[in-house]
Amino acid sequence: MNFYSRKWVRPEDLNANGTLFGGSLLRWIDEEAAIYAIVQLGNHRVVTKFISEVNFEASARQGDLIEMGLVATRFGRTSLTMRAEVRNMITRKTILTIERMVFVNLGEDGAPAPHGYSTITYERDRMPTIQPATE
Ligand SMILES: CC(C)(COP(=O)(O)OP(=O)(O)OC[C@H]1O[C@@H](n2cnc3c(N)ncnc32)[C@H](O)[C@@H]1OP(=O)(O)O)[C@@H](O)C(=O)NCCC(=O)NCCS
Repeated sequence: MNFYSRKWVRPEDLNANGTLFGGSLLRWIDEEAAIYAIVQLGNHRVVTKFISEVNFEASARQGDLIEMGLVATRFGRTSLTMRAEVRNMITRKTILTIERMVFVNLGEDGAPAPHGYSTITYERDRMPTIQPATE
């Protein structure tokens, strides 16, 4: 598994317990996974289809530095499945694990479309070369 974005836990990301709010963490990992899917499938049109059990294993506190890791575990016909882990950058203690996050590759009509890939790329060779449409 490779770790990508790092986050600094800030006051606005805390829950009433004074620790990292799970909703903030889920937003960050969903965005990270979407970017991972875009890089792997070479298409901006990817959507979150399914997220399996989310295990918040340990909390994080204000000022902690955390990092988000992803690895593709299955290339389907139109889908990509990943495993996710978030950990403390300093202590390496696991904060969150998600066994399966499934993204679906869409065509221009918004319907699932075959992506044609079966292996992980560690390069940017599949990156879309045009900007996503804004309309
Ligand atoms: C993504 C969407 C277009 C898929 O439609 P669908 O009718 O389920 O499409 P399909 O049945 O053809 O399935 C597409 C792929 O998703 C997989 N899939 C479908 N349901 C799944 C589930 N519950 N769990 C895991 N994978 C699933 C299928 O196995 C298929 O993968 P494959 O082609 O690699 O075998 C549709 O469900 C959708 O628009 N969902 C909303 C997505 C979204 O907006 N996400 C953002 C958060 S709201």
